[in-house]
Amino acid sequence: MPRKEPGCAWGVLLTLCSLSAAQPRERQGYLIAAPSVFRPGVEEAISVTIFNCVKETTVQIQLVVKGETVSRGHGTVLDKGTIKLKVPSGLRGQAHLKVWGNRHLAEEGYIFHNYTTVTIDSKGSSVFIQTDKPVYKPKQKVLINLFMVTSDLRPVNDRIEAYVVDPRGSRMIEWSNLKPFCCGIVNMSFPLSDQPVFGEWLIFAEMQGHTYNKSFEVQKYGELYPNQL
Ligand SMILES: *[C@@H]1O[C@H](CO)[C@@H](O)[C@H](O)[C@H]1NC(C)=O
Ligand SMILES: *[C@@H]1O[C@H](CO)[C@@H](O)[C@H](O)[C@H]1NC(C)=O
Ligand SMILES: *[C@@H]1O[C@H](CO)[C@@H](O)[C@H](O)[C@H]1NC(C)=O
Repeated sequence: MPRKEPGCAWGVLLTLCSLSAAQPRERQGYLIAAPSVFRPGVEEAISVTIFNCVKETTVQIQLVVKGETVSRGHGTVLDKGTIKLKVPSGLRGQAHLKVWGNRHLAEEGYIFHNYTTVTIDSKGSSVFIQTDKPVYKPKQKVLINLFMVTSDLRPVNDRIEAYVVDPRGSRMIEWSNLKPFCCGIVNMSFPLSDQPVFGEWLIFAEMQGHTYNKSFEVQKYGELYPNQL
């Protein structure tokens, strides 16, 4: 999904400027702006500006954790562009963001290479659980939406597990490895049996080691069919 260009509002951390020897006539430099905290499971946008540029430069970006490249992105940038980098789920801690700029040597281009340290942190991500109704009757379908967002309300497309527990504590249904189709939203549904346990049911969702819950009620037909009381 489109996202705002990286800016000071969410922390420019990588400001790499260099004078290139390749074209001594003009001052050359580049500016890379990336968020200071990367979220696991999120596609981060890295903004690349190349000054005094007359030809396209191929820019490659890698995210490296403990010497291993866990994600890569690339694009061609004329003067300003955005390169997206998908941060794998389940990562946490320090990583290196490595950036290369290349042009065919024959085209008198300059080459830059630099890196910085970024933090991958899921802190602040939240899962909101919603049901289509607060109260259900036997045989009704329970519709559940999970909304996953960071603390600054960016959607998280991380994997999530969910399950539903009845008032006796029995796990009635579970979903593992759910993945949002987009925008940090997952929808599920399940039918209640014709003889569900009445009372408070709980939906649990687990993401990045945190568990979230939300309750709903299952009641008798009572109000609908007074003759069954
Ligand atoms: C990398 O960027 C830093 C500034 O953030 C700069 O001081 C350093 O010279 C750069 N390294 C290279 C190889 O360009
Ligand atoms: C998921 O639920 C939301 C909110 O109820 C709804 O707008 C959306 O269409 C649903 N998507 C799917 C794929 O069911
Ligand atoms: C449900 O979540 C709340 C916090 O939102 C927590 O206080 C409560 O203990 C949780 N319930 C269960 C059964 O885990």
